[in-house]
Amino acid sequence: MTRRSLGVALLACGFIAQAADKVVGGPYTVNVGPRSATVAWVVQTSEARLGTDPGELSRTAPVLRVQKVSFTGLEAGTTHHYDSFGEGGKGYFKTPPAGAVPFQFLVYGDTRSRHDVHARVIRAMVKAGEPDFVIHTGDLVADGSDTAQWPVFFSIERELLRKTAFFPCLGNHERNNPQYYEFFDVQLPYYSFDWANAHIVVLNTDLGNVAGSLVSRDAYWKEELRWLDEDLAKSRKADFVFVVFHHPPFTAVRRRQGEDKEVSQVVPVMEKFKISAVFSGHDHNYQHHLKGGVRYIVTGGGGAPLYPVDAPLAGITQKVESTEHYVGIQVNGKTAKVQAFALDGRVIDTIDLAARAEAR
Ligand SMILES: [Fe+2]
Repeated sequence: MTRRSLGVALLACGFIAQAADKVVGGPYTVNVGPRSATVAWVVQTSEARLGTDPGELSRTAPVLRVQKVSFTGLEAGTTHHYDSFGEGGKGYFKTPPAGAVPFQFLVYGDTRSRHDVHARVIRAMVKAGEPDFVIHTGDLVADGSDTAQWPVFFSIERELLRKTAFFPCLGNHERNNPQYYEFFDVQLPYYSFDWANAHIVVLNTDLGNVAGSLVSRDAYWKEELRWLDEDLAKSRKADFVFVVFHHPPFTAVRRRQGEDKEVSQVVPVMEKFKISAVFSGHDHNYQHHLKGGVRYIVTGGGGAPLYPVDAPLAGITQKVESTEHYVGIQVNGKTAKVQAFALDGRVIDTIDLAARAEAR
């Protein structure tokens, strides 16, 4: 082959690869801090097929690649607009401000199934306004190792995620799969960040998938709890601290009660640091519990089949409802308001919070 024909051949290959590429997720923004952010989108490069008969490969799976662009030197407390991959690739996000600037964020979870319901939840969230950021409490998809499920998630979430920053939390259905880490640029599945006068912590309670043995699982959890204590001790000056993890320590779902022994170890830590509110998912309904001065919200109404709230906890449970919903949090100086919204806009629950000055 001459150099010229080789060049033509390479160009032809390149053309074929490019022609097969299509964006199937995003754009979305992750790891947003006061000075930096990462804009990402998911590209399908080809499709693999599978079957038990070589002549009938009826099952297909997309071959995916994540594109990520990190921007640094950004201005805090400012809306930044981007154009990521040309047509359809525009979006925007805000960077966190310093000081007690009012802000709002939305929390939702368990979007893993009933895609039509998930789509209704997202439409309601988009209609509700422009949150500074959103937090997903986990179980984004039914099986995080199934490549075909992620484009469905991103397609439904598109109009929300291109308008705000996204902070994810691992659920058990992500199966601790590398795709979760790749898509959302996650280095460690437990992390924290500051937004104005609030500190937000995201934990990984999916211990069943993090380690192959009980010994390594216990070691992982012990290290995570050590990190949590250290992180919260450094954040005593924050007016509000919100903690997010998938498995709820309190539940009104009878068959789930007493299920997560490890998660119950977080409760005394929440009380010690006077956490403003804890957000979990896993149970597909809305729940609000109050224990030791800490609010525990279960927001798992993002699409997965609803669970009954058949066993409220005496003296702890404040409000339960088995319905699709999302939660909005408004922080305004020394006060904050947590509200759960049904998809028709009805307010399910309202919680007024005061700054935790006494925690300093
Ligand atoms: Fe779950």
